[in-house]
Amino acid sequence: MKERKAQLKIEGHGEPVELPVYPSSLGPDVIDVRSLVKSGFFTYDPGFLSTAACDSDITFINGSDGVLLYRGYPIEQLAEHSSFLETCYLLLRGELPSVEERLEFENNIRYHTMVDQQIHLFFNGFPRTSHPMSMLVSVVGALSAFYHDNLDIADPEQRMLVARRIIAKMPTLAAMCYKHGLGQPFMYPRNSLGFAENFLHMMFGTPCEEKEISPVLARAMDLIFLLHADHEQNASTSTVRIAGSTGANPYSCAAAGIAALWGPAHGGANEAVLQMLNEIGSESRIDDFIRRAKDPNDPYRLMGFGHRVYKNFDPRAKVMRKVCNQVLEEVGETADGTLFRIARRLEQIALEDEYFIRRKLYPNVDFYSGIILKALGIPTSMFTVIFASGRTPGWMANWNEMMSGPYKIGRPRQLYRGPVKRDYPG
Ligand code: SDX
Repeated sequence: MKERKAQLKIEGHGEPVELPVYPSSLGPDVIDVRSLVKSGFFTYDPGFLSTAACDSDITFINGSDGVLLYRGYPIEQLAEHSSFLETCYLLLRGELPSVEERLEFENNIRYHTMVDQQIHLFFNGFPRTSHPMSMLVSVVGALSAFYHDNLDIADPEQRMLVARRIIAKMPTLAAMCYKHGLGQPFMYPRNSLGFAENFLHMMFGTPCEEKEISPVLARAMDLIFLLHADHEQNASTSTVRIAGSTGANPYSCAAAGIAALWGPAHGGANEAVLQMLNEIGSESRIDDFIRRAKDPNDPYRLMGFGHRVYKNFDPRAKVMRKVCNQVLEEVGETADGTLFRIARRLEQIALEDEYFIRRKLYPNVDFYSGIILKALGIPTSMFTVIFASGRTPGWMANWNEMMSGPYKIGRPRQLYRGPVKRDYPG
């Protein structure tokens, strides 16, 4: 196809600037503005709403149609037919594995789930009341102390080993954050268990007794990981890319991603959704919260609603709602059932309300995930830790994609509005 050009006519500035236009395989084409700086201009896009920071083959989102594809496969089909580890392989390698490739990958992950015994000592420094995310961000960053000197990130196979190590160790470290808060001994991973089953074993088992893990709940946990595995250039993935663009140790890049994910506007929203549902407490109080969320003078937002990209249902929220029903059926009527009913009612009211309709605010991935996690017996403070475990393959696939080709250090410019040059008095 003949290369297309964009003509940028700037009043009071000589000739129009010609900018190349590149075609996408799906979604918007892009205008290459790199040469603009030679004309003495920057582009201006706080929050990067209209900015493609990179090209990528990994994940595609169509926000208006509510489409999410991992390497071209719809998230609904992967949720139906795949597993978290098979999806990790897909995100990292670009193709679904053969049976042999999948078994080899699963086996490789299995033998990387343990962490160095020295990591156990890091937890001695954390107060028992530490938020699990404060511990996770620290110990994942600390992994770089164990894998640094002979790490060659220019070697594709070493990059894949890093990715497998972090994917394998995140659930182990996540469970350690939980156990530390309880004052219970850390549980070692069990090689005879599946990935999600092993995580629930490390969370709820004790040296005194094995925890019976229901296959329905193990499948739900695996789906939670799968549905969070990647999501284009979201805030935490962009953070991993920027950190990686300096050539930093990939374990510290993952820690940077965890730090960004923690915020309630991003991965911390699932914890905030549960706090909101508990605060609402009964269906009769929903209207108060809707009114506050709509009040322009009240910074309060309805947690679990809205998305930078989705201006339709988040396809993950639809799958989550189905899993929610299955899990609540499995665990039986509990307080979570009440929360689920409040969530369904809140969703229904919000979707009929003009304020939400006009702003295209739909339930996002975090709206139902918290109820599932709570029904699995996982405390609210652990929700974002689980999101981080799920998002690890996405972070590492994006990091690896960037490191696999030519890349530049991420270093945005600014619209400077400060004082012009002035001399020191006297
Ligand atoms: C995740 O990027 C990703 O892909 C993220 C993620 C992933 O997988 O990585 O999908 C995971 O982070 C999901 C989002 C989780 N966050 C929440 O549920 C927190 C609540 N949502 C909002 O904070 C908000 O919707 C954001 C941050 C998610 C999106 O913010 P935007 O795109 O910057 O939206 P905006 O601030 O421009 O809002 C547009 C309008 C504003 O009103 P007006 O100025 O037009 O009057 O919508 C309003 C906002 O006030 N609005 C909300 C709202 N979200 C936006 N009003 C009430 N409740 C909300 N939740």
